[in-house]
Amino acid sequence: MPAATAPCFTPETKLGDIVAARPALARVFERLGLDYCCGGQRTLAAACATKQLDPPTVAAMLEAAAAATEAGPAEVDAAGLTLTQLADHIEQTHHTYLKAELPRLVEMAGRVAGKHAWRDARLPEVQAGVMALAEEMLSHMQKEEKILFPLVRQIDAGTRGGFHCGSIANPIRQMEAEHESAGRVTARLRELTDGFTPTPESCNTHRALLAGLAEFESDLHRHVHKENNILFPRTLARAG
Ligand SMILES: [Fe+2]
Ligand SMILES: [Fe+2]
Repeated sequence: MPAATAPCFTPETKLGDIVAARPALARVFERLGLDYCCGGQRTLAAACATKQLDPPTVAAMLEAAAAATEAGPAEVDAAGLTLTQLADHIEQTHHTYLKAELPRLVEMAGRVAGKHAWRDARLPEVQAGVMALAEEMLSHMQKEEKILFPLVRQIDAGTRGGFHCGSIANPIRQMEAEHESAGRVTARLRELTDGFTPTPESCNTHRALLAGLAEFESDLHRHVHKENNILFPRTLARAG
């Protein structure tokens, strides 16, 4: 982790490295629509080019946000945890949240589509997307909790002697592909709901659904960032 008083972001710094060092800066990327989780290996310059943003301006925004959050970051310092602590943290925060939240989102999406599809023809696709996401994410988390994370903990404890790195690289690649898929469905939900924005006619359930989806998206980005940019590469480095 860099010295707290002197963050330095150049156009060549990777998005994932920025958020690994300064988790609170994820909010800047969220605001600008820059993907720092599945797209975490891109440099600031490359990511800015996709949105016609000026890299020095974005770097200045990051510096300002870093200075503003100096007093106390709200997000855990994932890069400072051991592999076992990070796997535990992901399960206890992001997985626990998703297991409670996904059934609620599915139920609300069904109710909203049933009542208001006559007014907004995109709502059945929103419902289908939420259902697909819930199914994918629940099975994805089960694979992590039952297969991948136990291996991560064994590698961390050094009890997995003679472990061949290829045998963990495959499940990790599979998890990364599933993250991409969840990210694509979530991006489509954002499009279908005009950025999770209610209209004046939206009922309370519709508003609660949109707020829930916006929170889901933000949590997914932080969750995938911790796995793709910290947990997985460090596990591969230890196994190799
Ligand atoms: Fe996960
Ligand atoms: Fe995952």
